Amino acid sequence: MSLMTLDEKIGQLNLVGIGFDVTGPIVSENVEEKIKQGQVGAVFNTFTPHAVRKLQKKAIKESRLGIPLLFGYDVIHGHKTIFPMPIALASTWDMDAIEQTARISAIEASADGLNWVFSPMVDICRDPRWGRIAESAGEDAWLGSQIAKAMVRGYQGSDLSDTSTVMACVKHFAMYGAAEAGRDYNTTDMSLQRMHQEYLPPYKAAIDEGVASVMTSFNEINGIPATGNPWLLKDLLRAQWNFNGMVVTDYTSINEMVPHGFVANDAEAAVSAINAGVDMDMVGEAFLNHLKDAVNSRLVSVETINLACRNILEAKYKLGLFDDPYKYANDQRAFAHILSEQFIKASRDIACKSIVLLKNDKQTLPLNADKSIALIGPLAKNKRDLIGNWSAAGDWKQAISVEEGLRTALGNKAKINYAKGANIATNEQMLRRLNQHGGNIEIDDRPSHQMISEAVKVAKQSNLIVAVVGESQGMSGEAASRSSITLPGKQQDLLKALKATGKPLIIVLMNGRPLDLQWENEYADAIIETWYGGTQAGNAIADVLTGKYNPSAKLTVTFPKNIGQIPIFYNHKNTGRPYSGVWQDKYKSRYMDVDNEPLYPFGYGLSYTSYQYSPIRLSDTIVSPNQTINAYITIRNTGAFDGEEVVQLYIRDKVASITRPVKELKNFKKVFLKSGESKEIDFEINVDDLSFYNNDLLYDYEEGQFELFIGTNSRDNKNAAFSAIK
Ligand code: NOJ
Repeated sequence: MSLMTLDEKIGQLNLVGIGFDVTGPIVSENVEEKIKQGQVGAVFNTFTPHAVRKLQKKAIKESRLGIPLLFGYDVIHGHKTIFPMPIALASTWDMDAIEQTARISAIEASADGLNWVFSPMVDICRDPRWGRIAESAGEDAWLGSQIAKAMVRGYQGSDLSDTSTVMACVKHFAMYGAAEAGRDYNTTDMSLQRMHQEYLPPYKAAIDEGVASVMTSFNEINGIPATGNPWLLKDLLRAQWNFNGMVVTDYTSINEMVPHGFVANDAEAAVSAINAGVDMDMVGEAFLNHLKDAVNSRLVSVETINLACRNILEAKYKLGLFDDPYKYANDQRAFAHILSEQFIKASRDIACKSIVLLKNDKQTLPLNADKSIALIGPLAKNKRDLIGNWSAAGDWKQAISVEEGLRTALGNKAKINYAKGANIATNEQMLRRLNQHGGNIEIDDRPSHQMISEAVKVAKQSNLIVAVVGESQGMSGEAASRSSITLPGKQQDLLKALKATGKPLIIVLMNGRPLDLQWENEYADAIIETWYGGTQAGNAIADVLTGKYNPSAKLTVTFPKNIGQIPIFYNHKNTGRPYSGVWQDKYKSRYMDVDNEPLYPFGYGLSYTSYQYSPIRLSDTIVSPNQTINAYITIRNTGAFDGEEVVQLYIRDKVASITRPVKELKNFKKVFLKSGESKEIDFEINVDDLSFYNNDLLYDYEEGQFELFIGTNSRDNKNAAFSAIK
């Protein structure tokens, strides 16, 4: 750093985006020239060994000091081999599988020129209107923390300088998932207790696991934009959490502090961001254009610039770029690893684990293979949507459709009769927007009644109906909030007409958020939630439909009965007038037109087999700092299929100095049980499981009575009581 001019230091703080796949309004200009001038520290949206080498060579050979560039990219749920989207991955409750997806992503991305991924996204979200719930791990801070750690381990491994690991970036710091009204980029305003207890733990978990970079969020927090928030970036992140990596902004979020009404212009925004603790400016170039003047007019100190520059250079050292700037761009490795057979197989296995069985009346599923099947719906032959809305460099043409998956699985045993039945949406404005951003939606011009009659005819000629319906991938993700969460277009009309044929109706859902499925839940015979399952989605869905894989996934977000119940989440407070379910009780905390229960609770998911839970047995009934207790429960597989069950443990603190939720997830175990088999599961409970942030934001437990719940989801459990002493 002693060799660097002030301009060169400021240049390191600049992250430019190359033309394609733009995720915001500004595209960086004259990138190659800026690299030569030492005005670029990192590049994103460029990959492949060839393209990366070319730009890296410019930095090394043509800039004065030859400092290597970082190459970042939105590798979110796979690079080329695409895995199920994050909300689906979370539904596996399988930390090894989740870590493996990040590990494979790192191997592929690092062979393809990249050394930095903008993942994991760990924003807690309780509002399905928000499109980015699809990118999240769901509504629970404890589970979100386990997932955050698994992702960081998978990307970074134990050595960042290993050529097959990449630098991870936890985002979006912080509280982005609490955007008001589920509208993207919107305001967040919440108490410090709620932040610490319910929203901050996953970011902290990623930091404790050693994540090397953090991305700030677009939202403001209690009136101060995250990107210009010294409490967030200095006091909390650096001082309290000891983070010593680099902080990058989100796309143009420095400049966005102007419309937020926090600063008057980009120059002030740059000062605010760097003084708040930001190191790198993504795309907006406010740092590049204004920091030198700010230093000259003493609004920013040279020490502040040095600190930011140092954090970025350190990341480059840790990645080994000063030893070999080209180490992440390797044609042989790219050829050997990308989309390898082993990775494709992992994608299929993990997709199977992410599919949630929501309903299965009279054992409609698994399918009886020798039947004729009416395969209906706008997503039945679809490939584009299967890889989701943030599938990085994934090629949707390589995805396996449901139709292909089923045909391969069933061979000649079943006859498959197809009809599209409905378009995915009918709102023209929405369709135009989706297609403008790579939706690839083909619209059938026939009137909807004609498409529906054709589908009904096909259904009548078949023994059962598999309807593949849902949202197009672009209806969730960034800038994709919805004010209605029912099936879009005429898809529900289609389902109603199919139901009227009297044939068994199996719904295969693809969507990026909890939907309002009240009608579907009442009338379908079986429903599977497949989210967007990635490259192998069609094969995985066929594995589940045919029973080759017995579903084990559980929801990590609550599905509401209707949009008016939002926000709805399992770990809510009890209120002073809790609703007991007696409808005559007027003065209770309730709606008049719907009860308080969700359609599907957090942790919910069925199996082709059934599990019986014994009562809970406790080793003792008092927990203290010197004494943990053990909770034992025996699970028996009482059905005809082998299967895996996610056994969930929740705790309620009955009385505390600030009121506590009705229950909180504190542990789980995923156990495999053969048909007829029983296993005793053992959970240890200690004072940490009872601790929370009190009114002084001290993390501790309090003496008193606790309730323990163990069960198959957050609603259906066995319970027991214990107490804690100091
Ligand atoms: C904006 C998104 O909010 C963020 O998640 C992403 O990493 C950046 N754009 C870069 O594409």
